[in-house]
Amino acid sequence: LPSKPVLGVESSCDETGVAILRWVPEAPGSGLLAHALYSQVKLHADYGGVVPELASRDHVRKLLPLVREALAQAGMTPADLGGVAYTAGPGLVGALLVGAAAARAMAWALDVPAIGVHHMEGHLLAPLLEADPPKPPFVALLVSGGHSMLVEVAAIGRYRILGDTLDDAAGEAFDKTAKLMGLPYPGGPALAKLAEQGRAGAFRFSRPMTDRPGLDFSFSGLKTQVLLAWQQSDQSEQTRADVARGFEEAIVDTLVIKCRRALEATGTGRLVIAGGVGANKRLRETLAAAGQQDGFRTYFPRLQFCTDNGAMIALAGAIRLAAGQGQDEAVRVAPRWDL
Ligand code: KG4
Ligand code: ZN
Repeated sequence: LPSKPVLGVESSCDETGVAILRWVPEAPGSGLLAHALYSQVKLHADYGGVVPELASRDHVRKLLPLVREALAQAGMTPADLGGVAYTAGPGLVGALLVGAAAARAMAWALDVPAIGVHHMEGHLLAPLLEADPPKPPFVALLVSGGHSMLVEVAAIGRYRILGDTLDDAAGEAFDKTAKLMGLPYPGGPALAKLAEQGRAGAFRFSRPMTDRPGLDFSFSGLKTQVLLAWQQSDQSEQTRADVARGFEEAIVDTLVIKCRRALEATGTGRLVIAGGVGANKRLRETLAAAGQQDGFRTYFPRLQFCTDNGAMIALAGAIRLAAGQGQDEAVRVAPRWDL
């Protein structure tokens, strides 16, 4: 008997994401029946960053309309659902609580289990939504606004952290650097776009912590380097693009060096890239080229499943349900939570 579809709800930060997925073990992506997303980017733009209280309120407004939209897309009624998965952390506590409360209430009303999902496990599993999904064991590079991690995935649910950031996450470094160069929020994509106009080699910044062994990251020093270079420059539009290019190359190079090390250390031939920074074009191209050279395979989610979305939460929840995980008794969210 095919398992019933799972509703996934993501509300950990500034995107409200909802999706419906039926668990198909051999081709998880083929089980994706609907996905809908609402981005709060415009709401927070004037403040230069996410305002937690505004985020919570907007999730309240948008969540149920998105659930209705997803059900309509899938041609389903709530009674067709076999479970509800939601992001239980890490993230903004108020935003998490909106998704958790709505998901738990729906699950209770439908008499189906509610599964709290770790947001980074969602990101980590997102490449499984694509055709030809990676099979464990693999190494995952998780690079988002809150995390920069290298994870060894022995099996789904069996994770070992190989490296983590000591300060800023990769996406955070993109966003903060963009801000100090006067780019609008959200900075990461804006900086990446500007870097396309930049000239290679005009500015060179360091590749932090690549000169010593280990798989940890540290990106906070880079923004100071960029700030100094920018302040001491002529601050022309071309220079701004050149600085952006130099910064992006430094981050991408650093990530690629550490990925190669992690693959070598684990003897694994598969690399999964996920999280918002995984949408970065230079990172995708450079890692794909490194894979061709070294003989490892790279797996990326499509761009819209790199950044926050409901599909990855529905998938992670469906996998946990299929593995027999039941519902936690307490309704709990965790703003901080290790993978
Ligand atoms: O995974 P995500 O949507 O949310 C978190 O879980 O944090 O990641 C958002 C992060 C932001 O820091 C954003 O600037 C960055 O991903 N990002 C990018 C790009 N697209 C999103 N960074 C660099 N280049 C991009 N194209
Ligand atoms: Zn995320």
